[in-house]
Amino acid sequence: MRAFKNMLVTGGAGFIGSNFVRYTYCQKKFEGRVINLDKLTYAGNPLNLTDIEKEFGTKSYYFERADICDSSRMRAVFKKYEIDTVVHFAAESHVDRSIFGPEDFINTNIIGTFNLLEAARELWNDRDDVLFHHVSTDEVYGSLGKTGYFFETTPYDPTSPYSASKASSDHLVKAYQHTYNIPCTISNCSNNYGPYQFPEKLIPLMILNMVEGKQLPVYGDGKNTRDWLFVEDHCSAVWRIMEEGKSGGTYNVGGENEWQNITLVERLCEMVAKIQGKDSDSYKRLITFVKDRPGHDRRYAINCDKVKRELGWRQEVGFERGIEITVRWYLDHPEWIESVRSGNYRKWIEKNYGKR
Ligand code: NAD
Ligand code: TYD
Repeated sequence: MRAFKNMLVTGGAGFIGSNFVRYTYCQKKFEGRVINLDKLTYAGNPLNLTDIEKEFGTKSYYFERADICDSSRMRAVFKKYEIDTVVHFAAESHVDRSIFGPEDFINTNIIGTFNLLEAARELWNDRDDVLFHHVSTDEVYGSLGKTGYFFETTPYDPTSPYSASKASSDHLVKAYQHTYNIPCTISNCSNNYGPYQFPEKLIPLMILNMVEGKQLPVYGDGKNTRDWLFVEDHCSAVWRIMEEGKSGGTYNVGGENEWQNITLVERLCEMVAKIQGKDSDSYKRLITFVKDRPGHDRRYAINCDKVKRELGWRQEVGFERGIEITVRWYLDHPEWIESVRSGNYRKWIEKNYGKR
């Protein structure tokens, strides 16, 4: 089993990254150092980790505000903290944004990953007691029809600028492992949901729109299908892969929990109504079918037998419970929502970390 000392978590102020840092400290009782490196784009929110900063900030938790596109800074961070492990979450992550403006996706997801790999190549030399774990998506495999699943052996066929940029970064990681022998692992996972997700993504967007009585915009005919994975289950899979995954190995991670978007939105309406003691029809009436996303992938479905069989990983949180935890979290954290929506946290960033 691998042991980590100085773990660089890129994108640790984002949705999955912040959940991963919390998982590392709270579930794994990690005793090494965590270096959270994040540019703090609109999606990165330092408030996501105030509890961790408070408890571990003077002991083992460090925050570096930095852009992974800055290659000399990446090398400096590797040197400063004697990084032996990278968990690479930092990315532009929203498909719709990649359609409106792909440039940031190309820069961060491809060039940024390249810079981190170059820092690893230069500073790790031929060390084999190090690991670069790259967090990727099932969207690299393209779109499925009504049946079938993505396997680790499924050929890449990305269709959006987002998925093309992630596919590109996956190939770079594989190439660096193959060519330079840098110990690398990759996980390709399905749609995550849970606390701290930026409310541009389907689930938090719908919950917040319900609370505000706004329309619930469902793209196209609402029959596009996604597999939903509770974020903590994703974190436990990443941790297992880092501990014992084979270098050069890729692992699919999924919830085995497929829903058509329209059914998912209806379930969310029912959950919000149940928690609030209201009638779900008042929310369902807000559902509005809107113009489809260009090139909208029809269906994603993951086969994750490999990570289960080889590493003994399992999902722990069923969909009903995961959705309830998530809805309750959004209903119970109006200050977080306000900070994300009002731009207050941007002022907080400028005060604490200077202007971008
Ligand atoms: P997110 O958008 O919530 O967070 C991304 C984080 O990266 C933010 O904190 C942001 O500030 C930071 N970042 C962006 N550009 C940066 C740069 N140039 N330098 C340094 N930091 C930068 O994303 P997420 O949903 O937490 O996704 C994390 C990773 O997981 C991504 O690589 C994404 O492709 C992958 N993934 C996400 C999902 C999902 O459902 N959310 C599913 C599969 C894979
Ligand atoms: P999203 O959360 O953006 O994730 P991804 O595109 O990476 O799968 O969207 C999930 C699904 O929900 C996707 O099929 C698009 C759809 N969707 C809507 O129907 N309405 C919305 O407002 C959003 C944001 C997404």
